Amino acid sequence: MKGEGIGFGKAILFNEHFVVYGVPAIVSAIGKYTVAKVEPLSTHGMKLDDKRGATPRYKEDKLEQQKDSINRILKAVNIDTSKGGVKILLEGNLYAASGIGASAASCVAIARALSQCFSLNLSDDEVNNAAFEGEKGYHGTPSGIDNTAATFGGLIWFKKGEPNVIDRITLQSPIEVVIGNTGKVADTSAVVAGVKERREKNPTKYKEIFERAENIAFLAKRALQDEDYEGVGKLMNENHKLLQQIEVSSNELDFLVDAARGNGALGAKLTGGGKGGNMIALTPGKNLQEQVATAIEKEGFEVLKTAIGVSRRGSRE
Ligand code: MEV
Repeated sequence: MKGEGIGFGKAILFNEHFVVYGVPAIVSAIGKYTVAKVEPLSTHGMKLDDKRGATPRYKEDKLEQQKDSINRILKAVNIDTSKGGVKILLEGNLYAASGIGASAASCVAIARALSQCFSLNLSDDEVNNAAFEGEKGYHGTPSGIDNTAATFGGLIWFKKGEPNVIDRITLQSPIEVVIGNTGKVADTSAVVAGVKERREKNPTKYKEIFERAENIAFLAKRALQDEDYEGVGKLMNENHKLLQQIEVSSNELDFLVDAARGNGALGAKLTGGGKGGNMIALTPGKNLQEQVATAIEKEGFEVLKTAIGVSRRGSRE
């Protein structure tokens, strides 16, 4: 039997990196997804056909990590390709780029497609766990936030722990955002390792930054629920400052953040691992979204116009 599954892209609104250390974070699925199609092969081994649109070099740079990741997913769901092989095709409208959850979306899509192909009847939690194993192929010690958003969709309060806290945040209405792509591929595991090293060297400085990040998460949740978009925007700006202080931003990201703010965005920050990848700007209303997106495009960068807080569970929008 053939199998098919999807996984959502995501944007972290608050506290990437801090989340790795148990600080709460807020993430939203975005209206783009990866589709995986799986079919059994009569030969053994795994054949991959990656047809996703991608930032130049993304697929080449990540190929070894991708193979490792898929093998981990196969192992997690007990499929032994030395007996019978599988062919995996990846497609969908989520651009494969750093920062928008491309790896997690593909892990979730593959786990769902394998479940259908081999009649595994995996629950969402089991899909999420298999995708978490797959994420380890890309970034050694993932927090689990990306695969959680890719599996469940919607807007989520996430805190890593035993077990993880995964709470849905319900908005009165979705909020438009603009995601701007620096066009630079980043290695999340290297960026995460850099934060670890600097945190160990500067414990006092990092403790203060981490405490403020935690505080911001709680304030942001309240502001989102109260539809206080100005407040959310300001907190995003402050969050970006903290991310600069832990040295995960880059000139291109700071440029995009400034361009978005300068053209009316209520707030903007890097999103995801940083050091390249993507920036997210809060632009409630179609007009403001268009204004910010056009300005960024004029600077020569690609943008994605989407919304946060749309309940997407099980649908392709
Ligand atoms: C990457 O999208 C988010 C990071 O916080 C890493 C993780 O949480 O695993 C940088």
